[in-house]
Amino acid sequence: MCGIVGFTGAKQAAPVLLKGLYTLEYRGYDSAGLSLQTAGGIRTIKTKGRVEELESKVNAAGEIESCCGIGHTRWATHGAPSDRNSHPHNSMDGTISLVHNGIIENYLELKTMLQAEGVVFKSDTDTEVVAHLFAKCYHGDGVAAMLDVAKQLRGSYALAVITADHKNEMICTRRDNPLIVGVGEGENMIASDIPAIMAITKRFIVVGDGEVVRVRPEAIEVYDKHGARIEKEIQTVNWDIQGAMKGGYDHFMIKEIMEQPKAVRDSIASRITADDLPDLMSEGVGAELFRDIRNIHIVACGSAYYAGLAGKVAFERLAKIPVMANVASEFRYSDPIIDKHDVCVVISQSGETADTVAALREAKARGATTVAIVNVLASTAAREADHVIYTWAGPEIAVATTKAYSAQLSVLYLLALTAAGARGTLTPDEIRYYCRQLKRLPDEIEQTLLCGDRMKELAQLYYSSDDAYFIGRGIDYMTVQEGSLKLKEIAYVHSEAYAGGELKHGPISLIEDGTPVIALACDPELYEKQISNIKTVKARGGRVILITNGDYAIDPDLCDHLIKLPACPWFMTASLSVIPLQFLAYYVGVLRGCDIDKPRNLAKSVTVE
Ligand code: G6P
Repeated sequence: MCGIVGFTGAKQAAPVLLKGLYTLEYRGYDSAGLSLQTAGGIRTIKTKGRVEELESKVNAAGEIESCCGIGHTRWATHGAPSDRNSHPHNSMDGTISLVHNGIIENYLELKTMLQAEGVVFKSDTDTEVVAHLFAKCYHGDGVAAMLDVAKQLRGSYALAVITADHKNEMICTRRDNPLIVGVGEGENMIASDIPAIMAITKRFIVVGDGEVVRVRPEAIEVYDKHGARIEKEIQTVNWDIQGAMKGGYDHFMIKEIMEQPKAVRDSIASRITADDLPDLMSEGVGAELFRDIRNIHIVACGSAYYAGLAGKVAFERLAKIPVMANVASEFRYSDPIIDKHDVCVVISQSGETADTVAALREAKARGATTVAIVNVLASTAAREADHVIYTWAGPEIAVATTKAYSAQLSVLYLLALTAAGARGTLTPDEIRYYCRQLKRLPDEIEQTLLCGDRMKELAQLYYSSDDAYFIGRGIDYMTVQEGSLKLKEIAYVHSEAYAGGELKHGPISLIEDGTPVIALACDPELYEKQISNIKTVKARGGRVILITNGDYAIDPDLCDHLIKLPACPWFMTASLSVIPLQFLAYYVGVLRGCDIDKPRNLAKSVTVE
């Protein structure tokens, strides 16, 4: 995820672009840059680091006379954060400059084609391909060139271009990534998100998928994907800038909960072949990795550990490989029995968690092959592991993870299916079936998000309770542990997660009239067993919120509230059942007046032991 911005008008462009970039930093902050149209051609200034560093560089460059330009703040995907990988990227002769948000899936194919035609690349990015492709397609009309470029790209993108020969003109387009045009008086902007345009206007047009827009100070022309002119409705923002940063949501956490379909879609899209098989070969992870190994060790902290527990169930049941899952702080001091016959999978949103990084080093030192599932590009775990599989969740701002957790789960499913293929525990047709289901998962997550209002109502009923219990069995047991952690972190409610069958060995003594018990029953193997466990809770006065899927006939006396989820293959239910639990923690936290995005005593990235 990156942020793009553009300005054309009568005032100096650089300060407007910088202001816009500051508001977009939440979308990425490992590098930043801008390109300005000047009398002497296009001037590009870019740097690794934050917008602040870009601003210093721009100031150091002295007065640059320019009323039109584009800017970018980057969250690296292809190519580590560096000056040369920063955007904008320019054509070889410097007459075209481009910024991009998204991922170009066929960039290698295009790069090879362009190189054969003599194009010399300066960066490791997928984006630079588009700058050169645009130059190839440009014959004086930016809209025609952009339409031509779009036909040749696969993947997701929002693009903005300036050319040296068309003063005060910007051309932009998008597919599956946000892009708006800010409509001002004699000045207009383009941006990834509303806050970036609010320096000049509150009025905007939403660019549709495949549409191409020519933006000049006095006119905005929108074309459909066939090149026909279309009219667009102008909308008006009624939030302040703080609200706009959160896309109209009250908190980043809820915004990120709602972004989960995209996080999962982006994390799996390029990793399932046209033939519906998992393909992690560009990360160097294929059948070879799993064929002859003895054990898999999964190591992580916090929510990433709970994602790992769900991964353990998938690996064991699908690929029949024994999996040891450990919290990293314990693993590193446990004198772990791990060597070259084992694979160690570390999971971390930040890639910087001190215990996780130390565990990775320990596993590596003992000879294991290490695989890191990481969200932050070029982070320590990503750099040090033998193989890194990125989750494409984009920057996560709220301290408590939601969308990165979901993206981790989806990558673990792909890994487990790869392992099952390698070991022959599933047939290729069975794997294809699961991959097809996995491709549908983002839509099912989307559907599950509809339970938000219901969970808000339930939060209103139970938010003043001082304790809550979560129960589940099999894959559900892993999810309830994450749900319980969320309630503690966000709402400061004492909660415990138990395997349903363990209730009778102690915690059942704590269930009394009115105690809220959140029960998952989504694992088909254990559904009936879990129902019996729920009955014991009900018999002691517990107030049961039952979350289940499938077509089970539910006895009305079994629970006080029922949440039904879409049906999906058993191991993928973890991706759906966690959603009502995230909502519950969020709304209880809101009702208890908690600091949702920055809970007390917690940090996003824990770089100390
Ligand atoms: C902190 C965060 C958690 C996160 C954990 C692991 O405790 O508050 O949300 O799950 O660290 O972080 P990592 O970056 O390694 O996934």
